[in-house]
Amino acid sequence: MESFFSLIQSRRSARKFKTDKVSSEMQKQLLQAALLSPASKRSNPWEFIAVDDLEMLRKLSESKPHGAAFLAKAPFAIVVVADPEKSDVWVEDTSIASLYIQLAAEDLGLGSCWIQIHKREHESGIMASEYVKKMLNIPSQYEVESVIAIGHKEVERNGAELSDLLYERLHTGEFGKPYTFK
Ligand SMILES: Cc1cc2nc3c(=O)[nH]c(=O)nc-3n(C[C@H](O)[C@H](O)[C@H](O)COP(=O)(O)O)c2cc1C
Repeated sequence: MESFFSLIQSRRSARKFKTDKVSSEMQKQLLQAALLSPASKRSNPWEFIAVDDLEMLRKLSESKPHGAAFLAKAPFAIVVVADPEKSDVWVEDTSIASLYIQLAAEDLGLGSCWIQIHKREHESGIMASEYVKKMLNIPSQYEVESVIAIGHKEVERNGAELSDLLYERLHTGEFGKPYTFK
């Protein structure tokens, strides 16, 4: 296992996948990672739907007009859903869970990409979340935050260069005072 720092430095979004399936052992670890994610007040408002049916993945790729089409060629996805009645900060809770899934995927040598559903529209004008809810029989009180596309990477992308980071966004003591590394 690589160090956590090198894992987050090398992780890049993957949108092109091999046709190989994501094994059931890998699916188990991805879903356990999701359940390990922290939530405000331990409210755990999330639910996770594992999808490996290729026809359903194709339908989900039509959730919104931009930024989801590549899901049609992914072998696996986890749909991240929450009950807003259980947490007023369900967006944060589901975002953390989404990222845990992505980091677990990277740790397993898989590629992943977040597909934003919350606040996005389907091409028909309905909300993308309503489209996903209908596709997956999700009860009406739930909200859909994201679909995390996962698979074996078709291409290995270069990780981030530490010299390219937005160091100007670092402040020390108060906003506007640049942080300088010692
Ligand atoms: C909240 C959030 C929403 C995103 N939504 C989408 C999306 O709908 N479609 C997509 O292709 N990528 C999406 N991404 C991936 C970002 O475009 C990507 O993480 C960003 O460009 C940085 O690239 P990297 O992940 O390769 O470092 C999303 C990422 C985040 C964190």
